[in-house]
Amino acid sequence: MLRPVLVVLLASFLPIYALYAPIDNASPQIVPQVPKPTKIHSSDSTPRPLVIWHGLGDSYNAPGMLQFIEMVKEAIPGIFVHSVYLDEDQDKDRQAGFYGNVNDQVKLVSEQLTAIPELQIEGGFDAMGFSQGGQFLRAYVERYNSPPVHNLLTFGSQHMGISDIPPCRPYDLLCQVARRATRAGVYGSWAQENLVQAQYYRDPNNLATYLTANHFLADINNELIPLSSGGNETYAKNLASLNKLILILFTEDKTVVPKESSWFGSEAAEGDELAPSYGRRPGFNEGYKGSQEQIQLVPPQARSEPVFQLSKQIIPMHSQPLYIEDWIGLRTLDERGDVELQTCKGEHMQLDGCWEDLVAKWVGK
Ligand SMILES: *[C@@H]1O[C@H](CO)[C@@H](O)[C@H](O)[C@H]1NC(C)=O
Repeated sequence: MLRPVLVVLLASFLPIYALYAPIDNASPQIVPQVPKPTKIHSSDSTPRPLVIWHGLGDSYNAPGMLQFIEMVKEAIPGIFVHSVYLDEDQDKDRQAGFYGNVNDQVKLVSEQLTAIPELQIEGGFDAMGFSQGGQFLRAYVERYNSPPVHNLLTFGSQHMGISDIPPCRPYDLLCQVARRATRAGVYGSWAQENLVQAQYYRDPNNLATYLTANHFLADINNELIPLSSGGNETYAKNLASLNKLILILFTEDKTVVPKESSWFGSEAAEGDELAPSYGRRPGFNEGYKGSQEQIQLVPPQARSEPVFQLSKQIIPMHSQPLYIEDWIGLRTLDERGDVELQTCKGEHMQLDGCWEDLVAKWVGK
């Protein structure tokens, strides 16, 4: 019964996305007249190579991506940059961001990276994932990691999934119908094999169905078979082998629901009380600067803005069972001091004015 609905959706999805591109576009938003960053490497040392996995709605060689790569190359002379693609054809590559089986896509990319001579160097490469590209690169690290990733930077990624499909513009009925269909059919086997966003949709009010139906996010988060009961130790070992994991959250992100997913936060289920003891195990919470139940992302003077009043209760990274029980090596990495929680000011993927310092610090060294 769902299938016809979803086929209609398939036909209408791309134009719909085009309609609300300003809201959903995961392309890097770069204003051309940004002052050029100062050079951070002398040209006689060979910088560590970089791999970038673009976001939804973008393609590996879209103008914004090429421009970004050029800027990185200017900042780090001599750096080798590879932009991940699922298809050399630009339109098909863009389409693969919406449609396809993510597990197959990650496998394909692992084969792609293995075949690039410039990446086969000791110490591996740095990797930047834009939006959904971030959790896909994490999947690469956990499952393959050959050649290995040194620093992994994820920008506005959905590490704990999304609990809603990005909103439509007001009065955009076509978009709203499609969105409702996606939400209704999201755990169907067709959607789970074919719609990329469905494969990281994680509804806190329906976790049981998610755990049964989802074969991507639930798997890379080791939620099905946590380590304590024999989960995949390779995932944890590989993630903990990173030099640094840099998680970047966009402070005004209205595309990713909840935006705290970028920091391994997730929405609490309805009626779920965040018990006072949540996240209070002695020791592990030290150094966590947010409040117990809600992450504060903005400086105090900006906190009265209504956008933050709308957010639901968030279970922060340090209170996730995934973290506490270290299902994927995240806690190991964090306690070693190698998880960086960073913010960029602005809406989803507004890299402008923010990427320069992050790249200077963690890319190419
Ligand atoms: C764990 O993951 C690795 C890498 O993807 C895979 O080769 C292995 O079969 C998995 N092990 C289990 C127990 O699922």
